[in-house]
Amino acid sequence: MQYTAEKITISNKSSFDCIVIPIFEQYKFSKISKKINDISKNYILNILKKNNIQGKINQNIILYKIPNFLCNKIIVIGCGIKDKLNREKNKLILNNIINLLKQYSIKEIIWCLTDLKINNYELYWNIRDTIDIFEKNIYLFNKFKKNKSVFSSKIKFIIHDNNKDIYFSAIKHGKAINLGIKKAKNIANLPPNICTPKYLSIKAEKLKKKYKNISIKILDEKCMQKIGMNAYLAVSKGSKNKPFISIIKYFNDKKSQPIVLLGKGITFDSGGISLKPSKNMEEMKYDMCGAASVYGTIYAIAELKLPINVIGILASAENMPSSNAYRPSDIIKTMSGFTVEIINTDAEGRLILCDILTYIEKYTPKYVIDIATLTGACVIALGNNISGLMSNNNILSKKIITASLESDDRVWKLPINDKKYFDKLKSNIADLVNSSDGIAGAITAACFLSKFTKKYKWAHIDIAGTAWDYINQKAMASGRPINMLCQFLINEIYNH
Ligand code: BES
Ligand code: ZN
Ligand code: MG
Repeated sequence: MQYTAEKITISNKSSFDCIVIPIFEQYKFSKISKKINDISKNYILNILKKNNIQGKINQNIILYKIPNFLCNKIIVIGCGIKDKLNREKNKLILNNIINLLKQYSIKEIIWCLTDLKINNYELYWNIRDTIDIFEKNIYLFNKFKKNKSVFSSKIKFIIHDNNKDIYFSAIKHGKAINLGIKKAKNIANLPPNICTPKYLSIKAEKLKKKYKNISIKILDEKCMQKIGMNAYLAVSKGSKNKPFISIIKYFNDKKSQPIVLLGKGITFDSGGISLKPSKNMEEMKYDMCGAASVYGTIYAIAELKLPINVIGILASAENMPSSNAYRPSDIIKTMSGFTVEIINTDAEGRLILCDILTYIEKYTPKYVIDIATLTGACVIALGNNISGLMSNNNILSKKIITASLESDDRVWKLPINDKKYFDKLKSNIADLVNSSDGIAGAITAACFLSKFTKKYKWAHIDIAGTAWDYINQKAMASGRPINMLCQFLINEIYNH
């Protein structure tokens, strides 16, 4: 898709292929739709009335050969009650429009919906949302399909006032973030026989070639052994696919401490010896969505050349059963020195993450955010639209919540500051267990991680419920929480 913004005055001389204009309930027009209706000498209003298109949200009509108006077609889109338009309804409207564009293969459209007054909602976000919804709706993963159909269209936003900078910055941000989302989805949707830990490290290496502010460091099995990442190594022992940690350094600022983004990248989580049931097990190829979201976020901020320092880490391994796999009751010494008694080999995410949480102390990070499809319990608690947020620092978690509300990529904070949760991590023979009775499972997993994050400000985002969507009852990667993470980083620049 292409997005541009231009100052265009609509008149009886305007000649475009297609223009989209709003109609509100009880046949109320916006400024622009009124102007076009006036040009047409009420032709538009009369047709709407004849067809009973009063402006309800799911109503629309395409008009051709409009008197006195040179455009080939006008899409009149129902926008509901004029003063009651909000962000949620606007998103429904945007979905309706993109469906029409697809249905009628409309290749170019003049966009007049940015003059709508939407409650508590700025123009900048209206444009960002438009790009988000369009890119989400046209995304296809047809790499393995014989028929590789694509849809693309050009959207030209009409600039109404003297605020062209808002248009340009929203388009710039929206395009880069959605590019990152697309790149992340393209990796996450790959099957685990292609997307292995090695594959992810190759993808990371390629970023270095594309962007000059990026450098890469890859830790292989040998490096991990040398520095005592035994918890990480235990998880991957059962797989022939070797583990790789890809460290992507994006440095574009002289002075600031880096922000570390750490993504869980289990390319397939069978559960290991504590094998998962086969129903829906294929969805566990998405257990690398945390890593994919880090990759996509770095992609987006490198596109935007944000003046910031970020270290993105793809923590990748495969969790498989085999005669060489780690087992329940093993005791493992983590890089931090804490020992862990393995109760369940399916609680593997926290084990790969904990060693990296220790490793990154050397960067003296400003903030650390890990993103992980960590627990089924988080899906039970929050469902499929809101990610779990847990943190040891209120300032950081507030910033994350702000970014999530702005970008509408939602999170909800769960508590980890109660001793009772930590009691569940006690082992009789080691320092910690890796899994307990399942009660408050999202929280106890975060409590486990928090034992390794004492040296810095840290937040954990559990995306087990949000990393993929169901489209026609089949799973597809969602690219979340890239939108929120990018917004968080954009906000960091302005709040320096
Ligand atoms: N990758 C899973 C969590 C998961 C489950 C993500 C469902 C997305 C959807 C994780 O490794 C896991 O297996 N967690 C266990 C932890 C338990 C053994 C303490 C779980 O949630 O069941
Ligand atoms: Zn997992
Ligand atoms: Mg697991």
